Amino acid sequence: MTRNELLRDTLTALSEMNKEGMHVAEVLGEQFVVLPGVFSPKYFKDTAFFAEHLPVRGVDRMLEIGPGTGAVAITALLRGAFYADVVDINHVAVRNTMINAVLHGFAHVGWRAPPPRIEAICANVFRYDGPTYYMTAHDKNRIGTYDLIFWNYPFGFTQRRDLSMLERSVLDRNYVGLRKYVSEASQHLNPGGKVFLGFSFDIGDVRRFKEVMQETRCEYAVLKETALVQTSLPGALEVTYSLLELHPR
Ligand SMILES: C[S@@+](CC[C@H](N)C(=O)[O-])C[C@H]1O[C@@H](n2cnc3c(N)ncnc32)[C@H](O)[C@@H]1O
Repeated sequence: MTRNELLRDTLTALSEMNKEGMHVAEVLGEQFVVLPGVFSPKYFKDTAFFAEHLPVRGVDRMLEIGPGTGAVAITALLRGAFYADVVDINHVAVRNTMINAVLHGFAHVGWRAPPPRIEAICANVFRYDGPTYYMTAHDKNRIGTYDLIFWNYPFGFTQRRDLSMLERSVLDRNYVGLRKYVSEASQHLNPGGKVFLGFSFDIGDVRRFKEVMQETRCEYAVLKETALVQTSLPGALEVTYSLLELHPR
């Protein structure tokens, strides 16, 4: 099967998902509300894989870029992380994450609320460089430093300029988001902190991915890899997903 077939399968799942409207997805036995317009773990099987294998033991503060429903960050809190800050470019995903944070008891109200807790903001990777929508954070320096940073990255390559917010959950134009993530992550790491990326070498553009890694002089290693039927749709194709540990400069 070709990369184009896999991308086509991805976009079909995206439109089926959108037709369903609001629904519930189960990830590792926990339920998550999915708002229309947000990447759904019911349709895409990689969320559960990354939620299961992200090494959160001993992590105090983590940052997730692109939380979607918040399933990965909330699973990390259930597994022992204390603070999860999340940043999504899609304001509906920010709201969706906070709904699930409330449902799982991790969205505390009030100053100095006790951990474990989650805070969500709308921004472009690590930056507030456009109109922003704040859920709980009010400080532009809110994206702090962390023990763990993760992004289940929209690894489909495209040159299209007219991407909808939903399409931005599976496509990254010219891998601009990836370049930002890799080149700025180290500024947000605590000493000994680690950076991870969810990727698929089947669907992603491997040549361009490697170019970004070379340009930014970022080394990477595969921490965990699995082959999964990509979506819950009949006839969906098998895809290998990789949890990568990055060593950015
Ligand atoms: C593959 S989805 C992953 C969603 C969720 N983490 C999961 O595993 O179910 C990618 C997420 O990244 C977000 N995203 C895409 N480009 C972004 C950017 N430049 N800055 C922040 N978030 C972005 C999308 O809105 C989407 O929620």
